[in-house]
Amino acid sequence: MRLLCGLSSPEGRPLVFVLLSALLGCSEVGVEALKLVSISVPAHQVTGKAVELDCNYNLEGDTLYSVTWYRGRDEFYRYTPGDRNPIDIFELPGVAVDTSLSDQRKVTLRPVSLLSSGKYRCEVSADAPSFHTESRSAEMLVVDLPDRVPTITGGRPKYRVGDEVHVNCTSLRSRPAASLMWYINNKQAATENLVEYTPVNDSDGLETSRLGLRFVVGPRHFHSGELRLK
Ligand SMILES: *[C@@H]1O[C@H](CO)[C@@H](O)[C@H](O)[C@H]1NC(C)=O
Ligand SMILES: *[C@@H]1O[C@H](CO)[C@@H](O)[C@H](O)[C@H]1NC(C)=O
Repeated sequence: MRLLCGLSSPEGRPLVFVLLSALLGCSEVGVEALKLVSISVPAHQVTGKAVELDCNYNLEGDTLYSVTWYRGRDEFYRYTPGDRNPIDIFELPGVAVDTSLSDQRKVTLRPVSLLSSGKYRCEVSADAPSFHTESRSAEMLVVDLPDRVPTITGGRPKYRVGDEVHVNCTSLRSRPAASLMWYINNKQAATENLVEYTPVNDSDGLETSRLGLRFVVGPRHFHSGELRLK
């Protein structure tokens, strides 16, 4: 980046630029400053998986002083190339750094848990003379998938026209709660046939969700003698 007494160079107009600089009597000072281009933080991750967080910056001639990672306001990783041991780790619940896969560009977190969710921020600082610092942040939500496929309860093996179908679909232990839907013969069930239940929280924070289905069987529900629910 080039700065001229607070004016930035108008692109493609070098003549005006030079004229201005002469008129204003400013000498051109080349300020090279590090630039944080982007960070890469997965928006969603599943519990038990490792996560790589990337901090992409250009030094632009600056010398790197440090790269620091925060979750919320808490620092958990600092890379200082000038130190004999460049990596410093600070304990944080749900954040376990794998130092063998971390450096000045990336931080790898060991298998994440529900506690790992939060806003992650990378801050890059240049050494003298600029001491320029930039930072960027992004949210990561860690989700816990249901233990197994949803189960259907309350169904009978056979229904006749005029029978009432009343069944439940239950998805055990996930976070956030699973969102469920019923299909009758592969068609999404009408809202008035659904019975909503509030998700139930387990002691460990996982939620069990349930959706009921209630309707009276009509001739239109039978496709070549079959009624399929899922
Ligand atoms: C469905 O679940 C609700 C809530 O647990 C329960 O009250 C109801 O009896 C269940 N119905 C069937 C058909 O299993
Ligand atoms: C269940 O957990 C969710 C997510 O943490 C929370 O929003 C909700 O209020 C809890 N519900 C109960 C009944 O504790």
